Amino acid sequence: MSTDLSYLKAINYKFKKIPNKIENLQFKLKEKLFLSLGIPIKNINNLDILEFGPGSGFTAKILVQGNPKSYTFVEPYEESIKILKNSFKGNKFFFIKKDILNFNSKKKYDYIILEGVLPGIENPNLNLKHLIKYLKLGGVVIFTTTSPSSFVSDALRRSLKPLFELAGHNKLNSRKKIKKILENQFKNLKGQSRNIDNWIDDTVFNPMKNIMYTFGESLKVLNKRFEYFASSPNFFFDHTWYKQRNLDNKQYNRKVLDLYQRCSLSFLNSQNDDYSCLNFKNRNQYVDIDIKSMCIYKSHLKFWFNPSRKNFNKLMNDVKSLSIIVKNKDKKTYLALEDFVKFSKRVVNNKLKNSTFGKFDFFFGRGLHHFSFIRVR
Ligand SMILES: C[S@@+](CC[C@H](N)C(=O)[O-])C[C@H]1O[C@@H](n2cnc3c(N)ncnc32)[C@H](O)[C@@H]1O
Repeated sequence: MSTDLSYLKAINYKFKKIPNKIENLQFKLKEKLFLSLGIPIKNINNLDILEFGPGSGFTAKILVQGNPKSYTFVEPYEESIKILKNSFKGNKFFFIKKDILNFNSKKKYDYIILEGVLPGIENPNLNLKHLIKYLKLGGVVIFTTTSPSSFVSDALRRSLKPLFELAGHNKLNSRKKIKKILENQFKNLKGQSRNIDNWIDDTVFNPMKNIMYTFGESLKVLNKRFEYFASSPNFFFDHTWYKQRNLDNKQYNRKVLDLYQRCSLSFLNSQNDDYSCLNFKNRNQYVDIDIKSMCIYKSHLKFWFNPSRKNFNKLMNDVKSLSIIVKNKDKKTYLALEDFVKFSKRVVNNKLKNSTFGKFDFFFGRGLHHFSFIRVR
């Protein structure tokens, strides 16, 4: 099976050389991310690291400060390999131009890392199953997933493309208008490393067919030999005294998944820092949010590839349904969704007077979720 990299070409994806100095916000945030995943950078001293899909090597730049014994990059994209070879010199670095499924090695590693790789590739679980074979017992795999509710705000931003097409705007005009509309949102986005044009290419015009790879889905592979270690966002707590700890990794992972699903409201909108969602008594109260969010994800994809009135109406109905579910639980999200529907109807009916998005301007989900899992068998 070969890797489909057409989506990178389609959005004119550029692997950029990373700066040498480690002082800016992006670097510090990455360091904190690894801490949330249970990995203080200096603890990787003398360990073997394997990274799949490293892109420009941004994560590696942070991790090499912990002085690992070896660092192996596996990346199918030539342009990326060139940049990596330029940035990482010395005999501890290894560069392998292959995709995950074609990677083979006798050596096993202490850490395996893949960020932003599994959501978006064909058959992520087959890939995950293959790559964890190269992890030592007691080693840790770090990967990212998407969640339906985290992705709602992105799905709706992506819908701007078909929205303007449906309203009869040409490509250039649509892009200009979308940029104007998203300018305010972009200002509200903290910790962003891209400029607005790259951000729009990536979030609105990226022709991805599937980005949904959930935590629950990954457990189908990991449950056999792995146990949850940590995550970002952090959502898990366990009051059990260590002598009473459940040693069955599968049951432990199930407990983690239950708490994760309870957080769907908090994942929906990053403005929402309220833990009351953990008090939901009835499973329907939180599972419904994920189900409706999944409907939005699916209908946005249909609309993106086929901007018809029918697909538009379906998307609007799904957004309305979600806004009804969250109305009494989360006012901010409710208002953001309502403003999105009003705005979209004005665009489609050619009644857009100004470019304001209302409360939607502050609406961002909690993005990709990072997980670390430890190999216990
Ligand atoms: C969205 S980028 C993420 C880059 C980097 N990990 C980051 O977080 O910034 C996805 C990366 O995965 C690589 N990739 C795509 N399919 C892959 C596959 N099947 N095996 C390994 N890498 C793959 C791409 O070339 C690209 O470098």
